[in-house]
Amino acid sequence: MKNLRTLLVTGGCGFIGANFVRLLLKQYPEYRVINIDKLTYAGNLRNLDGIEEGERYRFVKADICDSETIERIFSEELVDTVVHFAAESHVDRSITGPAAFIQTNIIGTFTLLEAARKSWLTGDWKGAEPCFLHVSTDEVYGSLGETGLFSETTPFDPRSPYSASKASSDHLASAYFHTYGLPVRITNCSNNYGPYQFPEKLIPLIFNNSMKAKSLPVYGDGKNVRDWLFVLDHCEAILEVVRKGKNGECYNIGGNNEKQNIEVVTLICDIIDKKLGLPESGEPRRSLITFVKDRLGHDRRYAIDASKIKNQIGWQPKVQFAEGIEKTVDWYLANQQWVNEIVDGSYQDYYQKMYQ
Ligand code: NAD
Ligand code: TYD
Repeated sequence: MKNLRTLLVTGGCGFIGANFVRLLLKQYPEYRVINIDKLTYAGNLRNLDGIEEGERYRFVKADICDSETIERIFSEELVDTVVHFAAESHVDRSITGPAAFIQTNIIGTFTLLEAARKSWLTGDWKGAEPCFLHVSTDEVYGSLGETGLFSETTPFDPRSPYSASKASSDHLASAYFHTYGLPVRITNCSNNYGPYQFPEKLIPLIFNNSMKAKSLPVYGDGKNVRDWLFVLDHCEAILEVVRKGKNGECYNIGGNNEKQNIEVVTLICDIIDKKLGLPESGEPRRSLITFVKDRLGHDRRYAIDASKIKNQIGWQPKVQFAEGIEKTVDWYLANQQWVNEIVDGSYQDYYQKMYQ
């Protein structure tokens, strides 16, 4: 079958990237996918278990900052579409060690933009109409008070090294559109949840700790608000922007689903209690909640106005939070080995075993 698109997906072994690669391979038999991933601590080949390399899929273990390799892949594969997920993504890590965020999120994005520019704009490009989709976050807009929503015209006001590095990469991507005419699109999405999320992020961390009767750390007063979106809704939105979006445009993506952290944590505990019964202690799992010192510079509230993508592209979330969180808990319950291999570190030996 002829490939209608050859997609370079970066960070396809991470949480959202792996869900995206799975969705593409399942729903779009006419697309070829090249997954470039450095396999940092956040990259896990297990996330793509069952996916074989072949005509439709190729895996390349590489750093997006390695311009030689990236340029080679562009020319070898005649890449026409980039969906750029690879990033350092955890705010807490960006506070204790910002250097990797500057390197991957800024220099890595620059390296990809340059490779795309050289391939699509300076040569004699003969492939399909190209598209570079830069996947970003709503955290670039800063923090909201009690009211209001982030729209595409909200000025950037990043507060953490993570969000500042993402804002910087958004500006670079946008500059490549305005300066060179590179066909760039940007999406800014709210907090995702679902299968394959690394258990340092709130929802899988609470799942893992509550299964092991460990304390459940809630930062500050627990009243910080996030707008949660089921990961497959995000993946579908990205595909819709690739297929129907306009070059040079940014699209906000959100779940229209604001929750305080404490509500989310309590709900996860209650769902597990309901499914498994009370733990040995006889106490409901929510009794493990412990309020701990607040995160430095902790953004109070994020909330998205996603009317542009709804009106212009026709996307809106399908999964309600009550359904999505139940599905997510079910997935983690059925995949406890996946969690345990991360917690004990053995997931990182898997690459050696598979590729030696
Ligand atoms: P993740 O941390 O789970 O995965 C990141 C992936 O990128 C990993 O597989 C890692 O190995 C890879 N990677 C990191 N540095 C690399 C490098 N230098 N070269 C090649 N690969 C590298 O992240 P995620 O949660 O899946 O997020 C993916 C993207 O979506 C990020 O750009 C993030 O900013 C954005 N985003 C995430 C959320 C969210 O809630 N998780 C929300 C909005 C936007
Ligand atoms: P997180 O999953 O790290 O995503 P982000 O910082 O990108 O929003 O955190 C979600 C919210 O949960 C955030 O307000 C910080 C809070 N949080 C806790 O209260 N305890 C925790 O152990 C973690 C990891 C996060």
